[in-house]
Amino acid sequence: MDLSFNLCPLHPSGLRLNNPVLVASGTFGYGTEFAELVDIKQIGAIVCKGTTLEPRPGNHQPRLYETAGGLLNSIGLQNIGVEAVIREKAPIWADWPVPVIVNIAGETVEEYGKLAQRLDSVRGVSALEVNISCPNVQRGGQEFGSDPRQAAEVTRVVKTSTSLPVIVKLTPNVSDIVSIARAVAQAGAEALTLVNTLRGMAIDVERYRPVLGGITGGLSGPALKPVALAMVYAVYREVKIPLIGCGGIYSVSDALEFFLAGAQAVQIGSATFINPATATKVAGDLEQWMKKRGIARLADVVGAAHHRT
Ligand code: SIN
Repeated sequence: MDLSFNLCPLHPSGLRLNNPVLVASGTFGYGTEFAELVDIKQIGAIVCKGTTLEPRPGNHQPRLYETAGGLLNSIGLQNIGVEAVIREKAPIWADWPVPVIVNIAGETVEEYGKLAQRLDSVRGVSALEVNISCPNVQRGGQEFGSDPRQAAEVTRVVKTSTSLPVIVKLTPNVSDIVSIARAVAQAGAEALTLVNTLRGMAIDVERYRPVLGGITGGLSGPALKPVALAMVYAVYREVKIPLIGCGGIYSVSDALEFFLAGAQAVQIGSATFINPATATKVAGDLEQWMKKRGIARLADVVGAAHHRT
C-alpha cells in the first residue's frame, strides 16, 4: 500500500513524504543517534530539535518530570545553533531517504527571518517548522504564537526569507486557536502543526519548591491528547491548509483519532522516549488497519469525524 503524499501542496515544489507519521521536534534530536536504532525510511519526516541563531545551553536542571499521564519538560531550547546544524548535521541528512524539517525559534521577528535565510538552499533541509510555541523561554516562543498579528508577522518574514516549505507550530496555551491558525495561514504558511505543549508545573512537597529548574514547563503525553485533538478538530473546520496533529500519540488508534479530526499527518513525540520505534510501528499499523478495512487512500479518512456530527 502506498501511503506517500504531498504534505505541502500549496508550495511550488511541495513536500513529498513516504507516509504521514513524523517524529516531533525535541524528541528525536537530530536523528543521528536514532538512525542506528530504527529504520528511518519508515518515518514520514524527521523534525529536528528547535534551532536558534546562536547555540543555547538551555534551562537549569531538572528539566524533565513525569506526571500522571504525561511528561513535563523545561529544556529551554538547548541546541547547537544554526551554523553547527548546517556544518555537522545537514550533510548527513542530505544522504538520508527521509526528509528532515528544521524547527526554528527566534527571540525576535528578525531572528526568524535570519534563520530562514540561512537555511534556505541548504542540502539536507527539506522544510522549516516555525516554532512560535515554546513555553520555556523568556523571550520569543509562545509569546509570538499567542497573538494572531505577531504570529502572522513571523510567518510573513519567514516566507519572504526562504524558498522552503513553511510549517508553523502553534501553542495550545491560547483561548482561540482558530484565530491564530487563520492568521498564520493567511500569511502564507503551507501547513500547521497542532500543537506544542501545555504550560504546567509540579511542586516538590518535601522541599516546598517547584520541581523544574525553569519553574514551569510544557506538558506532553496522553494527558495532552484530548486538548490537541479538539484543536485539530476546530481548526480543520475553518482553515484550509494541511494540519499535522501532535500531542499524546502512542498508537495507531491515537493517530486515527487525529486523522478523523482532520489532520493529514501526525507527529510522535513523548512516545519515542518509551519506544524509539513508535513512529515506525504506528506507520506500519496504519497500513495494516487500512488494508484490513479496504481503505485505499488515507484522504478518505481525513476529517471523516466531521461528517457524522
Ligand atoms: C524546550 O526546548 O524547552 C521545548 C521546545 C518547545 O516546546 O518548543
